[in-house]
Parts: sequence; structure tokens; C-alpha cells
Amino acid sequence: MKVFLIGFMGAGKTTFGKRLAKRIDVPFFDLDHLIEAFTGGSVADYFAKYGEEKFRELEKQVLQTQELPDNFVLSTGGGAPCFHDNMQWMNANGKTIYLQLAPKAIAGRLENAKEERPLIKGLKGEELVSFIEERLAARESFYKQAQFIVDGLSVNPDAVVELLTRQW
Ligand code: S3P
Repeated sequence: MKVFLIGFMGAGKTTFGKRLAKRIDVPFFDLDHLIEAFTGGSVADYFAKYGEEKFRELEKQVLQTQELPDNFVLSTGGGAPCFHDNMQWMNANGKTIYLQLAPKAIAGRLENAKEERPLIKGLKGEELVSFIEERLAARESFYKQAQFIVDGLSVNPDAVVELLTRQW
């Protein structure tokens, strides 16, 4: 089974993805890390050097062409489902799960993890919350195309396994 975890930055995709992968005994991958392995540099540096549009092209290329095993959990970057045809592609190629979280909860989680994230670097307090509210509003129509929507605060691997197996 191929599982794609989607959601805003700070929604907990990587942390939860690792737990889910362990629970179903498949390898875990992180799209940003696959991109970094491909370019040999950080996502933040790529953004700074080439800009967002080029990053989105590269993100699509790595997502849709990287060779991965038959079974895996992949955590995608917060913007990945919202560009090109990535959301349709993921829905056609695996199970998609949206980890949903309210803007204030996201802001709390991102407060100490902003430096490596080019889109929110330097934003503080209310500025950060407003940025998240606006971006999330623009992105939710993509995120909501996921086959499963789960609460990012209370999600647990057993509940997700149950959801996924019900569909098999
Ligand atoms: C981005 C999210 C980041 C990373 C890049 C852009 C976004 O991934 O892909 O900084 O557009 O939301 P995480 O969601 O893993 O932080």
C-alpha cells in the first residue's frame, strides 16, 4: 500500500508518518528529504536560489517520478498537493490522508521551527497566524480532495489502519 500524508506545515505529517509506517511495517519517506537528496542541498537554499515556481516543478518531478518500493508512507511538503496535478496523481496512485489542524494550533507548533521553512521565516505571533489562516484557506480545497481526513491533534496509527483497511 502507498500512503500519502498531506496537510499544512506543522500539521505533524512527519512525526505521524513515521509512527504509521512503523505500525504497518513499511518504509517511511519524506518528500522534502527526497528533494534534498536529489539536489544535494536544502529546500530552503533551493527556494532562495531559484524561487517557488522552480521548486514546485522539482517537487512534482520528484513526487511523480522517484522510484519507491511498492509499499510506503510518504509525508509530502505542505504545498505539494496544491500545485500542478499532484493531488489527482496521489489519489490515483495510493491512499491520501489529510492531517487537519486549526491555524492557531499550527502556529504554536511552527513557532520554534520556522528557520528551515522559507515561506514563514521571520514571521512572528499574529503575523504568523494570519499567514497560516490565509494560506490554509487557499489550500484547503486541495487538501480536502484527500480520501481520508483526520484530526491532526488526536490522530493515532491504529485508527488510521482501521480506516485504510475498511477500504480494501
Ligand atoms: C512548504 C512546506 C514545506 C516545504 C517547503 C514549502 C509549503 O514542507 O516543502 O518549505 O509550501 O507549505 P513541510 O510541510 O514538511 O514543512
